[in-house]
Amino acid sequence: MLKQQWVNPLVDPRDRRLPHIAGPCALVFFGVTGDLGRKKLLPAVYDLANRGMLDPGFSLVGFARRDWTDQDFASFVEESVRERARTPFNQASWKTLAEGIRFVPGSFDDGAAFERLAETLDQLDRERNTGHNHAYYLSVPPRSFGVIIDQLNDHGLTDQDTGWKRVVIEKPFGHDLASAQLLDAEVTRAFPPESVFRIDHYLGKETVQNLLAFRFANQMFEPLWNNRYVSNMQITMNEDIGVGGRAGYYDGIGAARDVIQNHLLQLMALTAMEEPNSFDAGNLRDEKVKVLSAARAASDFAAHTANGQYAEGYQGGRRVPGYLQEEGVSPDSRTETYAALRVDIDNRRWAGVPFYLRTTKRAPRRVTEIALGFRPAPHLPFSRFQTEDLGTNALVLRIQPQEGISMHFGSKVPASQMEIRQVSMDFGYRGSFTVSSPEAYERLIFDMLIGDAPLFPQQREVELSWILLDPVLNYWADEAPPPQQYPAGTWGPASGDAMIQRDGFTWRRP
Ligand code: BG6
Repeated sequence: MLKQQWVNPLVDPRDRRLPHIAGPCALVFFGVTGDLGRKKLLPAVYDLANRGMLDPGFSLVGFARRDWTDQDFASFVEESVRERARTPFNQASWKTLAEGIRFVPGSFDDGAAFERLAETLDQLDRERNTGHNHAYYLSVPPRSFGVIIDQLNDHGLTDQDTGWKRVVIEKPFGHDLASAQLLDAEVTRAFPPESVFRIDHYLGKETVQNLLAFRFANQMFEPLWNNRYVSNMQITMNEDIGVGGRAGYYDGIGAARDVIQNHLLQLMALTAMEEPNSFDAGNLRDEKVKVLSAARAASDFAAHTANGQYAEGYQGGRRVPGYLQEEGVSPDSRTETYAALRVDIDNRRWAGVPFYLRTTKRAPRRVTEIALGFRPAPHLPFSRFQTEDLGTNALVLRIQPQEGISMHFGSKVPASQMEIRQVSMDFGYRGSFTVSSPEAYERLIFDMLIGDAPLFPQQREVELSWILLDPVLNYWADEAPPPQQYPAGTWGPASGDAMIQRDGFTWRRP
C-alpha cells in the first residue's frame, strides 16, 4: 500500500512567505565520493539545509567502498560544501546537518554492508524520527543499478508500508532503447513507477522552467509559436570544456547520447509541446510524450546529421589537446564530441519547421540557448540596399549563461535616409531579479524529497528519445565516415555548417 505524501498541517499552501519544507526523511547516497557527488550533490543538500528547507531530523547517509567513519564522511561533506556551496557557509546550519550524517562502508555486492545500512536507517528512524521515509540516490554507473536494487529489496529497504521509499537515478538511462528498457525493468522490480525519479538536471534549471511561464503565462508570443511564423528552431548547447577526467565515461558514449538524448530533446519537447492541462507530472508527461511521438530525425542522415571530434587547438589563449590525445581515450576512437541533427515534428503546429539540435565540446564559449528564427516579411517595401543589415527576426531564450531572453528585429538607423539594421531588446535575470537562482540539483533533490515529480522525465519520454536517436547512432556507427575533426576553440566541423546550409539556414552565432 502506498503511503500518503506527508503534509505539514501548519503550512497554508497559499502563504508564499513560508518556505515549503521537506518532511522527515533520510537520503542515502550511493557513489557519493564521485565527481558529481562532491561538486553538485553534497553542496546542494547543504544549500537546502541552509535555506531551512529540510526537516531538523533530516539525515544523510553515504555508502561507499572506503574505510571511513561517520566523522570521516562528515569531513568529506564539509570540504565539498565549503568549496562549492552556493549559499554562504553557516556554522549553525552545518552543525544541524552534520548531526544526521552517517557512513556505511561496503561494496554493492556485500550483503553484510546492506545489513549495516538497514541497521543505520533503523537507528535514524528511532533517534531522529526520519519516519521510515528513505530516498536512495544512485549516482553510480548503470551496470550497478540492478545489484543495488536487489540488495535494497533483499534487506527490506524498499518496503512502502512503513514510510515512503524512493529511488533517484542519474543518466545515462541506457545507451539505446533496448538497454533503457532493461534498466527500467531492473528498477521497477523493487520500486513502483511513481517512486522512481530520473534526473535530467536541465529540467532543474530556472531558465528551463521559465519556458513554461514564458509560453503559457503570456499571450503575445503564442500567435507566433507555429509554422506560419517560425522558419526554423535552433537548440544549441555548447561547452568550452573538453572531456577532462571523464574519458572513462564519455569514450564510447559521445555527445548525442550524453546530452541530445536527454537535455536537448527535453528542451525541444518543452518548446514544441501543446499547453498541458496542468503542471502535474501526469499532464506534463502526456504533452511531452505526444510531441516526442510526433518527432523524428530527418530521414536522410547523410544530409541532415553531422558529427565531429575536437582536434588540438587553442582555448582561452592556451594550447589544448585533441580528443584522441586526452588521457583514457582510445587513440582510434570514433566517439563524437560534436553532434548535430535535424528533427522534424509531424503535427499541424510544426510541419515544415526543422528543429536543429547541436552540441559541441571545446567550443569558444559556453552557451545553451533556444533560438526561434522567423520567416522573412512577405513583402518588404524597401530597397535591397536599405535592408541589407536587417538579418532574421529571432527570439532567443538564453538558458545559460547570461540567463534571459532577447528579441532581434530590424530598426531604422537614425539618419535622414532609410537604412534598417538588426537591433535587440533584452530581458536579463540579473537586471530584473535580485535573488540568485537555485542550482538545478537543489531544486531536483528538494522536489524528490517532497514527492513532486513534474521535473523528472518519465520512462516513456526516455524511450521515445531513444527511438528518435537510435537510427542516427546506428548510421554513424555502421555507415558514416568517422567524425570530422574540428580545432578546439571553434564552433564545430564544416559538415555541421554544410548540414544546415543545405536547408537554406545558418547557425546563429551565440
Ligand atoms: C551533463 C553531461 O549531463 O551535462 C556533461 O554529462 C556536460 O558532459 C554537463 O558537461 C553540462 O551541464 P551544465 O549544467 O554545465 O550545462
